[in-house]
Amino acid sequence: MKRIAVFASGTGSNFRTIVQHIQNGHLRAEPALLVVDNSKAKAADFARAHHIPVSLLPPRDFADENAFGRAVIEALEARQTDFIVLAGYLKKIPDNVIGAYPNRILNIHPALLPAFGGKGMYGRHVHEAVFRSGAQITGVTVHLINNEYDAGPIVLQAAVNVRDCQNPAEIAEKVLKEEHRIFPEAIKLLLENPYRIEGNRVIVERENNDQN
Ligand code: GRF
Repeated sequence: MKRIAVFASGTGSNFRTIVQHIQNGHLRAEPALLVVDNSKAKAADFARAHHIPVSLLPPRDFADENAFGRAVIEALEARQTDFIVLAGYLKKIPDNVIGAYPNRILNIHPALLPAFGGKGMYGRHVHEAVFRSGAQITGVTVHLINNEYDAGPIVLQAAVNVRDCQNPAEIAEKVLKEEHRIFPEAIKLLLENPYRIEGNRVIVERENNDQN
């Protein structure tokens, strides 16, 4: 059974959804650890209530990115982590952590990357940009991370029609619902099937060979 560490910075609704999918047996995995960068992250309250260990690791407490990364790797290895899931985590993942977990760190972005992505494009900033642009279709992207913001190989995307949304908050609400649907699906896909990376694509070699 693969062991997943989740990283969160805020509410943790995606984290909660993932734990629920583990508890109802849909996601065959174990919650190994929650890593938060700040003591106010509400995700930590949910973790503690469900007896999931929490590591509070604020990057600013460390001399530099490498030192922070070493502390993160130590915490992950202490909990025998196989896979990392970034669920609303707002800090940069150090290069040494990416190197320790190659193509095993998933992130969710509330838009259809590469659109509305990159530095500074997170949370409400994304939905405000989508609303300002007049786009009628936005969506969700789950991707493996690399050393650039929001640019790693895409695992799953889902479109969300926001034509009737009157403001960014309505877009956010619709998109978050879709996040909660596809994030567990994307995690399940990679935990239960062999996969390889070709360019910026994730090729999942489904065991029963249905290439739909
Ligand atoms: C989500 O919108 C996600 O796309 C983004 O951060 C938000 C996390 O929300 N990365 P939550 O903390 O999971 O509720």
